Amino acid sequence: MSSTTVTIDPAHTTPSQNVQNFLSTTRKMLIGGQWVDSVSGKSFPVYNPATGEEMARVAEGDSADIDLAVQAAQKAFETGPWGKMQPLERSRIIWKIGDLMYENIEELSELESIDNGKSMGVAKAVDLPLSADTFHYYAGWATKIEGQTIPLSVPYAPGQNYHAYTLREPVGVVGQIIPWNFPLLMLAWKLGPALATGCTVVLKPAEETPLTALRMGELMLEAGLPEGVVNIVPGYGETAGAALAAHDGVNKVAFTGSSEVGKLIVQAASGNLKKVSLELGGKSPNVIFKDAADIEAAIQGASNAIFFNHGQVCTAGSRLYAEQGVYDQVVEGITENAKKIRLGAGLDPNADMGPLVSQVQLDRVNGYIDCGLNEGAKMVAGGKVDHSGYFVAPTVLTDTKHEMKIIREEIFGPVVAIEPFKDVEEILPVANDSTYGLAAALWTRDLSKAHLTAARLQAGTVWINCYHVYDASLPFGGYKQSGWGREMGHAALENYLETKSVCVAL
Ligand code: NAI
Ligand code: MG
Repeated sequence: MSSTTVTIDPAHTTPSQNVQNFLSTTRKMLIGGQWVDSVSGKSFPVYNPATGEEMARVAEGDSADIDLAVQAAQKAFETGPWGKMQPLERSRIIWKIGDLMYENIEELSELESIDNGKSMGVAKAVDLPLSADTFHYYAGWATKIEGQTIPLSVPYAPGQNYHAYTLREPVGVVGQIIPWNFPLLMLAWKLGPALATGCTVVLKPAEETPLTALRMGELMLEAGLPEGVVNIVPGYGETAGAALAAHDGVNKVAFTGSSEVGKLIVQAASGNLKKVSLELGGKSPNVIFKDAADIEAAIQGASNAIFFNHGQVCTAGSRLYAEQGVYDQVVEGITENAKKIRLGAGLDPNADMGPLVSQVQLDRVNGYIDCGLNEGAKMVAGGKVDHSGYFVAPTVLTDTKHEMKIIREEIFGPVVAIEPFKDVEEILPVANDSTYGLAAALWTRDLSKAHLTAARLQAGTVWINCYHVYDASLPFGGYKQSGWGREMGHAALENYLETKSVCVAL
């Protein structure tokens, strides 16, 4: 395997003074409106993915802290000002959270970049506006959660009139467990609908990336969110996460992460049968037909589909299928794009792609590449990276077979496999043959083929002539083992609401 060398200017791993100040003390957790140390007194390290060096310490929550946080959320739900607030007041606070994200966009983008490894420019242009807009979008919903009046025809009570209606009520205390690939965006997708519906929350950020969630805790208090409405407990999945998913005081758990842990969440939730929503992995097919209106645009789209966020995206277009006739052009185009991508630290304005989030992910992704090569795949771009940070070179594989592990399993790195196909009838069963069903894309100028194929793809999102288009208003979620339920749009409100039927004999 060839080797890529990455050189990093120390200036691009040294955060601004503002962020250094934030990192200089062990960050505490937020429980009941107070910043507190963990009950155990323990803290855990946060590493800079560009160097592999420890850059901060964060209070380490476990089941004792989760207990306190759940109690605080229960108190805030049952007796705090939150439950009595007019919807419009709640709406204003949620809107203000979005505003404060924009007001602090530099700092939040920088923190997100050094914590996750992603480019600060991308965080500022994509992660921050999408996250802030999610709060703005759900602020609007707080005043629009309505029941219905329902005419009854009770057959065994002839002549009796009833007035029947439904109330939509918040489900109560919600546990939210989020991953590290989009720390702020996942926080916004979870908190937006939970707050709009009037729930209270215990949020556990990923142990790899707790920093922006903790800064958001400060901003949420500044926005006027009453104490205990959002509690933030950083910690490891096996301890804090598992305790939250199993807690009897939690009425609903929302999770984004691996399908493996998704199954553990379901088991943990069975104790009190709390409600569960899950956003899990994916292995998304991206199908380029030879009649695509603009093959160059399809190639750019397919490159972005896999290389955006270094491939650490649950919807990454990791299985690329190109119709015979354009296959060679697609392989050549993607390979050229992959080779052009400059690796560097997230704070380096000239870098196109940063490191992966952690040593564990680096080893996992490199392991998949090795496995593919051992099984007979050919690497036309990519290779080991010579650096102590967690870098992987954008990797393009050909000569893969559908049965290979790298085609069946989620890699979660900048690794794409490109396979040729004959026609739509050949490729549809291949595209759908996956335990996952999160997203799919297709590129064609044939309108009928586009819509007919979109209908037959087993995926929660289908993009036609585009990829990675997200909007707070557009429902997002998975078929099959990619998850339960939908986030975003008004669909997400359902995760956090109960329906009460009220029936009055007149
Ligand atoms: P993970 O599923 O272990 O972690 C996600 C979140 O779950 C973190 O907050 C973690 O602390 C928590 N968690 C872990 N174990 C838990 C448990 N037993 N109970 C409750 N919470 C728990 O994912 P990980 O290990 O970070 O990444 C492994 C793979 O998962 C990745 O390579 C990728 O394939 C997939 N993944 C998918 C994501 C998505 O957006 N759907 C996001 C992150 C990872
Ligand atoms: Mg894990």
